[in-house]
Amino acid sequence: MADKKATLSVHGANEPLELPILSGSEGSDVIDINSLAQHGLFTYDPGFVSTAACMSAITYIDGDKGVLLHRGYPIEQLAEHSDYLELCYLLLNGELPKRAEREAFVEVIKNHTMVHDQLRNLFSGFRRDAHPMAIMCGVVGALSAFYHDSLDIDDAEHRTITAHRLIAKMPTLAAMSYKYSIGQPFVYPRNDLDYAANFLHMMFATPCEEYEVNPVLAKAMDRIFLLHADHEQNASTSTVRLAGSTGANPFACIAAGIAALWGPAHGGANEAVLDMLGDIGDEKNIDKFIARAKDPNDTFRLMGFGHRVYKNYDPRAKVMQETCREVLDELGIEDPMLRIAQRLEKIALEDEYFIERRLYPNVDFYTGIILKAMGIPSTMFTVIFATGRTPGWITQWIEMIAGGYRIGRPRQLYTGVSRRDYVPLAKR
Ligand code: ACO
Repeated sequence: MADKKATLSVHGANEPLELPILSGSEGSDVIDINSLAQHGLFTYDPGFVSTAACMSAITYIDGDKGVLLHRGYPIEQLAEHSDYLELCYLLLNGELPKRAEREAFVEVIKNHTMVHDQLRNLFSGFRRDAHPMAIMCGVVGALSAFYHDSLDIDDAEHRTITAHRLIAKMPTLAAMSYKYSIGQPFVYPRNDLDYAANFLHMMFATPCEEYEVNPVLAKAMDRIFLLHADHEQNASTSTVRLAGSTGANPFACIAAGIAALWGPAHGGANEAVLDMLGDIGDEKNIDKFIARAKDPNDTFRLMGFGHRVYKNYDPRAKVMQETCREVLDELGIEDPMLRIAQRLEKIALEDEYFIERRLYPNVDFYTGIILKAMGIPSTMFTVIFATGRTPGWITQWIEMIAGGYRIGRPRQLYTGVSRRDYVPLAKR
């Protein structure tokens, strides 16, 4: 794997250092710098722009070409022919399931959809106006206090049970966090419904009124989950891995991932897109907002645009755009926000500033509009992202734990004051 070498000449050193170059199955070669520390050298790469923190065989992104593969399968094919639970199986097991395996997997997930009834008590400790992501950070971490029987991270069976529990329970907890915020009773999962339909049912049914799930909306919801399922070493996944590298339990690690996802530069962007479209308000204001996004002295950015890895169209955004149309047609909604979004997209794609920086719409650009049309409040958008991303987080965590790992411990370039002696209070 490491026939190629890089040579590093360091000013003042006796001889150059030879560093192995590693090649993966796809993508750029990687210089293995692990031995640098033995020579008293470290690398400096804030934001991990040029640093691979792990080897992984789960998901591959070619950001220049706009390619996203899960276990080798292109996301467009998965979105068209597969569904979310099948993708969960694929991520966890590496291969598409045969019919019997698929049925057994769906059954297992259904068997884990309920949460321990005492978890309800946790919810009542939150203020009613708590952001659902704040609740999710708390209750997902708290799962480790309820499921002691599967917390041995060195036991492969425990890891699998935890993965199934997380995938199955996230929609239940997500819907509970919504119901709590609007003061309605929790709705138990219904295992006669499929994954996405069950989620919509838990969100919108009440004990006094049955809610019939619209199959077009259920399909769109499934697709939203599917498109978010994994995205290699993004900020939240890296957070899950870093937390996991200490040997922490998986529920705690996923809670850490949820916290990282919350920020507007990551999963919080879908909520921020809608807020931004609301602020723009009318097509005639678009130019003003574009000018602000381009102004280096203004911190405003076009939410839903740009990506650290994609320097081309985010392939998920294309599928999402189609789904958006399907949902709005089904519901007969002529959303002015969609018109603003489409116009904004067109202007940005033709603008030199965005072209030069290769800023394209990302997956979050259209998600918010779809979710809004379904009647889901914007505070739930990132919770839905977290639900969809759970199989990715847990598969990446399993890959790390099963493959042997060291604690993740970045180094630093210290720029503070050098050693000095303590000054007694009277002499300061
Ligand atoms: N609007 C306007 N300008 C932008 C935008 C944007 N959305 N995104 C990047 N830029 C500009 C930056 O100002 C910078 O310009 P400069 O070179 O003149 O200084 C240049 O493009 C590069 O930007 P960086 O911040 O260095 O890019 P980085 O890779 O660090 O950030 C990020 C990527 C965080 C996604 C950024 O594009 C952004 O903030 N986008 C808006 C938020 C968003 O949509 N996030 C969702 C990401 S996808 C996801 O999590 C599912």
